[in-house]
Amino acid sequence: MHAVGIVAAAGSGLRLGAELPKALVRLGGRPLVCWAVESLRAGGVDEVVVAVPEPQRAAFTAVLPADVAVVVGGDTRTASVRAALAAARELADVVLVHDAARPLTPPDVIGRVLRALAGGARAVVPVLPVVDTTVVVDEGGVVIGDLPRPPLRRVQTPQGFDRVTLVDAYARLHGDATGFTDDASVVRAAGIPVHTVDGDERAAKITVAHDLALAEHQL
Ligand code: CTP
Ligand code: MG
Repeated sequence: MHAVGIVAAAGSGLRLGAELPKALVRLGGRPLVCWAVESLRAGGVDEVVVAVPEPQRAAFTAVLPADVAVVVGGDTRTASVRAALAAARELADVVLVHDAARPLTPPDVIGRVLRALAGGARAVVPVLPVVDTTVVVDEGGVVIGDLPRPPLRRVQTPQGFDRVTLVDAYARLHGDATGFTDDASVVRAAGIPVHTVDGDERAAKITVAHDLALAEHQL
């Protein structure tokens, strides 16, 4: 089973508020995007394609290993993944789509995703349980309902797909479809069942400065 990893790294990182795009920000002295590429490889992915912001293309190429393919991403994560997917070679059986913003994802998580795909799943996501009480509020911030916690899950990356299934699901999207925050939603919208494996708290996404401080501490 030939596996291609796609790293979505074309975001600007507005909420982190650094001077650089988030994927170039350093953790333990190393850009986040490099951590994400290395963990995909350590987990068993054969080759990697990274989607980067156009203005910083050279800066990304300078820090990434020479055998990583670099493509220019788009205005949304969906557009960036679509660009990288077009560059993924057709010899790939499966594609794992990962966020550069999840630098410390343990290789075990990638292994679980790959094994589920090898076992016949067409789509698989790593998930964690929800530990907080989760409520719904109205526009004024008043609680109007709560969600039953046992069936809720938080979804992480890398998300794994049979390559043809993912390509077909993206081909069904009209224009620059918004509203999709991950790839499993795109595939589910095409009617494909999405399976789950255990995620890992260490695969947490770096969104705000506090998350980066926590990740430094974790190292
Ligand atoms: N991403 C991307 N292309 C975009 C937007 C996001 O490849 N147009 C990537 C980011 O680089 C990141 C991942 O998708 O690795 C998850 O997105 P997020 O955490 O929201 O990162 P940013 O969009 O960069 O951050 P922000 O929303 O705070 O600006
Ligand atoms: Mg974003």
